[in-house]
Amino acid sequence: MKTTTSFKKMKEEKEKIAMVTAYDAPSARHLEQADVDMILVGDSLGMVVLGYDSTIPVTLDDMVLHTRAVKRGAPHTFIVTDLPYLTYHADLVSTFSNAKRLMQEAGANAVKLEGGGDVIPTINKLTEAGVPVMGHLGLTPQSVAVMGGYRVQGKELDAAKSLLEDAKAVEDAGAFALVLECVPDQLAALITEEISIPVIGIGAGVDTDGQVLVYHDVIGYGSTHVPKFVKTYANVSNIIQPAINQYVHEVKRMEFPEEKHRFTMKEEVLVGLYG
Ligand code: KIV
Ligand code: NA
Repeated sequence: MKTTTSFKKMKEEKEKIAMVTAYDAPSARHLEQADVDMILVGDSLGMVVLGYDSTIPVTLDDMVLHTRAVKRGAPHTFIVTDLPYLTYHADLVSTFSNAKRLMQEAGANAVKLEGGGDVIPTINKLTEAGVPVMGHLGLTPQSVAVMGGYRVQGKELDAAKSLLEDAKAVEDAGAFALVLECVPDQLAALITEEISIPVIGIGAGVDTDGQVLVYHDVIGYGSTHVPKFVKTYANVSNIIQPAINQYVHEVKRMEFPEEKHRFTMKEEVLVGLYG
């Protein structure tokens, strides 16, 4: 299993870090099989799997349940789990107990939390307490209502400067890595250069230390809206839909189950049964 030290070393040696989200055991198995460097149990869970239209309704219980499933599917891969909406803002006692549940009960190897500014002292406290923390800056979906929509961050000078400052603060607070979402690739390249912890980009160009994408987007599974920064490597919905259609059709026509799918009993038992 890789560790936070492995990721630091990968950055130093310019070996790119490949990260994908997972929410259940079978997807986690695919990722482990593909040797991804880290799995993210993202709160994108809310949209991708639970059918909500944002990450806001996702609870800590949801994250615990899904992290446990991912852990069972990928026991040898480093797992980062998102602390969901408003689970790390109230006070340190509740933040610690929430992080503890993800680490102890669910089996996460690290937690991710969104934001700079007020979140920086929290990152500091968590890392001091021995919880590996991944930061997340740029587009931070938990604050989308405040940001006024899903859009590219850090395009203007002031915004770009403050993103760079936040990234440095995240590093100084002790985070082991940083997700940078939806920022111009030049800014992502600069931030990657300026800080010594690995920067994992999503919609942030090719110069970050690694990339993260949502599992369902990568394989084209049921995603209704695919952002510009996503590359879809397959379209499994095109395989799933005809398969399900065919099954329903065959049940109706008694074409399924066939002989080979059935169980039978011995003739004499049958005779006894009918009397
Ligand atoms: O929840 C998530 O999937 C994420 C990634 C998009 C970085 O936070
Ligand atoms: Na997330």
